[in-house]
Amino acid sequence: MHLNMNKYILNIKNLSKNFYYQNRQVKVLKNLNFSIKKGELIALTGPSGSGKSTLLHLIALMEKPSTGKIFFSDKNLINLNSREVNKIRKYNISLIFQNNNLISDLSVIENVMLPLLIRNENKNKIYEKSKKILSLVNLSNRLDFFPGDLSGGEQQRVAIARSLIAETDLILADEPTGNLDFKTSKEIFNYFLKLKRMNKTILFATHNRELANKADYKLSISNGNIKRVNGKK
Ligand SMILES: Nc1ncnc2c1ncn2[C@@H]1O[C@H](COP(=O)(O)OP(=O)(O)OP(=O)(O)O)[C@@H](O)[C@H]1O
Ligand SMILES: [Mg+2]
Repeated sequence: MHLNMNKYILNIKNLSKNFYYQNRQVKVLKNLNFSIKKGELIALTGPSGSGKSTLLHLIALMEKPSTGKIFFSDKNLINLNSREVNKIRKYNISLIFQNNNLISDLSVIENVMLPLLIRNENKNKIYEKSKKILSLVNLSNRLDFFPGDLSGGEQQRVAIARSLIAETDLILADEPTGNLDFKTSKEIFNYFLKLKRMNKTILFATHNRELANKADYKLSISNGNIKRVNGKK
């Protein structure tokens, strides 16, 4: 019984999110229930406006749900104090944003170093590790650039590198390959596969059908409900 529970990294119970907009209530997520196992690579799909980003923001503790609970391993993430939230963000759950939100007055390599700098790890090691991850996303020749001097796809690759360096157990990615050509998207996806082999869990929102089909399975949101769709062969 206990072993069984531990293989789930995420348990979502009766999760709803309503927004209020000019006196109107918008029901985006309606009473979702699902679980994700450790080491799974899952595509989050659904039309624009269906609530993919909303769901990822709830799991990343950036917004509070209207109802329901989110369990990370067996820890209830709802109603944590800000110290506990910061700790989860620093060590357990990372999010690659849809609009990559890099820090504009830090260089590329400094942006990538940040998640480990705030953990007070050895600076030289962090630098070397950052260089290595940036070479994986083909940005070795942009280490000292500032985000404003990069293309959209390059910025996105920096954001991916920054999130991946943290090697948290749960990685959430909001259309991480949205601005990338197919070859680069595939390389990013291959990096996700590598993380999966390290038993990391990845939930990525995407409109790219081909990449979604390569995931272990899809979670598809529509009309506020979520359902699991076939897996890869
Ligand atoms: N702060 C807010 N106030 C009111 N409505 C909101 C707010 N944030 C999101 N919404 C609404 O929630 C719905 C879901 O938005 P969300 O960003 O989660 O969609 P998405 O599936 O990520 O879409 P896309 O594929 O375009 O990124 C949208 O209709 C949006 O208008
Ligand atoms: Mg979105």
